[in-house]
Amino acid sequence: MTQKPNPLSSIKVNGPIPAHLARSVIEETLRAAILDGRLPCGIALRQQDLADLFGVSRMPVREALRQLEAQSLLNVIAHKGAVVAPLVQGDAAETYALRILLESEALRLSVPLLEASDLEQAVRYIDELETETDYSKIGRLNRLFHMSLYSKAPNQRLLKLIDEALNEEERFLRFNLQAMGLGKLSQEDHRALLRAAENRDVETSMNLLVHHLNRGVEVMTRYLASPEAQNRKALK
Ligand code: NI
Repeated sequence: MTQKPNPLSSIKVNGPIPAHLARSVIEETLRAAILDGRLPCGIALRQQDLADLFGVSRMPVREALRQLEAQSLLNVIAHKGAVVAPLVQGDAAETYALRILLESEALRLSVPLLEASDLEQAVRYIDELETETDYSKIGRLNRLFHMSLYSKAPNQRLLKLIDEALNEEERFLRFNLQAMGLGKLSQEDHRALLRAAENRDVETSMNLLVHHLNRGVEVMTRYLASPEAQNRKALK
């Protein structure tokens, strides 16, 4: 039997880490490695291996893993420990149904309070999306565009839940957007959504958002059922 390459070998640690920074350094380092695929889905991360790698005790490792679990990047599984989460957790349709509820509410609360600078920022994200060809950046710009429209919602816990869901989607898109062929379709939705927000038309903006997210779930469900997606899953 051949030895599998150690996934942690792709992670570089620079020098000794000051104790008070240990948790955040470990968290940021692992998050980056999960997002860019160096730590692939299904890989188990052992606390002791990580403690050795970072030259720290297991306590900050445990705390960092807990943070990453809260961000849906890891699942803690009995007898296996922390395992890098699959790209889509559970049912995509259920995930989107929740997103529609949360994001419509955030939009409803935020649109009347948006300032000119928020709307200008949203325009810049749309413009960047127009020319960006790097698939890892398209997901990020999509997330930032959406968050800019929700940003004035006063309920911080609502915004945090939405941000986590959008991070999960960004991670999925980074690996699958090219194969999904979503293309410019969603840009028309984004522009219409922005126009409604600029007009302070809460009802129209909410309808457009629901339409946009429903279209997203259709494309994603069709893609996940396609032979191509099944093959990609088998490769991972
Ligand atoms: Ni979008």
